Amino acid sequence: MTAEIVAGLAGIVADRTTISTVGKTGLGLSYRGYSIEDLTREADFEEVAYLLLYGELPTRSELDAFRGRIISLRGLPERLRNILEQVPAEAHPMDVLRTGCSALGAMEPEASPSDQLKAVERLLATLPGMLLYWHHFHASGKRIDTMSDEPRLACHFLNLLHGRAPDREPCNAVNVSFIIYAEHEFNASTFSARVTTSTRSDYHSAVTAAIGTLKGPLHGGANEEAMKLIERFETPDQAEQEILRMLERKERIMGFGHRVYKDKPDPRSDIIKEWSRRLAEATGHKLLYQVSERIEEVVVREKGLFPNVDFYSASLYHMCGIPTNMFTPLFVFARAAGWSAHIIEQRATGRLIRPTAEYIGLEPRAFVPLEKR
Ligand code: COA
Repeated sequence: MTAEIVAGLAGIVADRTTISTVGKTGLGLSYRGYSIEDLTREADFEEVAYLLLYGELPTRSELDAFRGRIISLRGLPERLRNILEQVPAEAHPMDVLRTGCSALGAMEPEASPSDQLKAVERLLATLPGMLLYWHHFHASGKRIDTMSDEPRLACHFLNLLHGRAPDREPCNAVNVSFIIYAEHEFNASTFSARVTTSTRSDYHSAVTAAIGTLKGPLHGGANEEAMKLIERFETPDQAEQEILRMLERKERIMGFGHRVYKDKPDPRSDIIKEWSRRLAEATGHKLLYQVSERIEEVVVREKGLFPNVDFYSASLYHMCGIPTNMFTPLFVFARAAGWSAHIIEQRATGRLIRPTAEYIGLEPRAFVPLEKR
């Protein structure tokens, strides 16, 4: 008897986890039992990262110590800076992070799995610096200092990007987006990190694999694609007409639809949409927001598809002055916390991940020697 094949493993329960729930009745989206609504209203990304990695919300002194360690770990080794200078100016920023993560793993490998949290904190601290060192070097020849005293990752990133202390509202908005992006159960990139970890490979190999997986437009790359779509339109009416044409041509509208949130909205979208609206008011980007809302109206009406986390993050990041090709890297900075929690969990409890396939190829046949082919 052959087992049932489920394309894309949709709906398959691949293992147990204590880290998060996605779309579960009564729990919705929650990290270690805390709802995403409470976390985004009450916490900073650093508290959430600590919760994911260590299992509990930090006390004041634990949080201060965690922030202090992250701040002190932001410097990049010289050999890594040299490598970043060699990555071409026209490379995609996701390739820069994938390369940077892999290179850091070669230069500073985990001493042993019992030291895994040191490697995790080092990577969380350096990812924004890797991207922005490369960015400024190629944009203006400047070799920036990647250290900053900003206690929040969101403000640290904006500070290095713009070269000055960021305003409060963009900082808060990016901080919320980081909490929302931090974790989402067995999504494709997390699963990829768990598959790599299941072979007893090292931490940096698992995160490098996850970054490569997140890059695709059906996953993290959707926020960048959503922005490219939204900024094509000068009016909401123009957006409506083009979206109708795209749907007629059966094209995918990036930032809509989700494997798990099929018949209900993605709860992350409501939160990020509200922040996008607030920023639009504060920064005068009203048209961008109105165009986004009209696209949502049309896609929900015509296809019954809801916006996912990536749709309104696109306009939110744009309003914070972040270049479009850095949108998916921002997802990496945050999701690195979730990936790391899953790598730790997989190491502790998981088994080698190795499914099987149903063979539908040719029947057995005689080998043909090279000279007779
Ligand atoms: N725009 C238009 N149609 C879409 C769509 C979208 N964004 N997402 C799904 N559909 C359609 C598919 O074309 C398909 O239609 P069909 O049955 O007529 O062929 C149907 O909905 C089911 O899609 P499917 O790809 O099988 O669903 P999935 O669960 O495998 O895919 C996604 C989930 C996320 C990959 C998919 O919704 C998508 O491609 N979205 C856009 C990319 C994106 O925003 N990704 C970020 C996710 S957080």
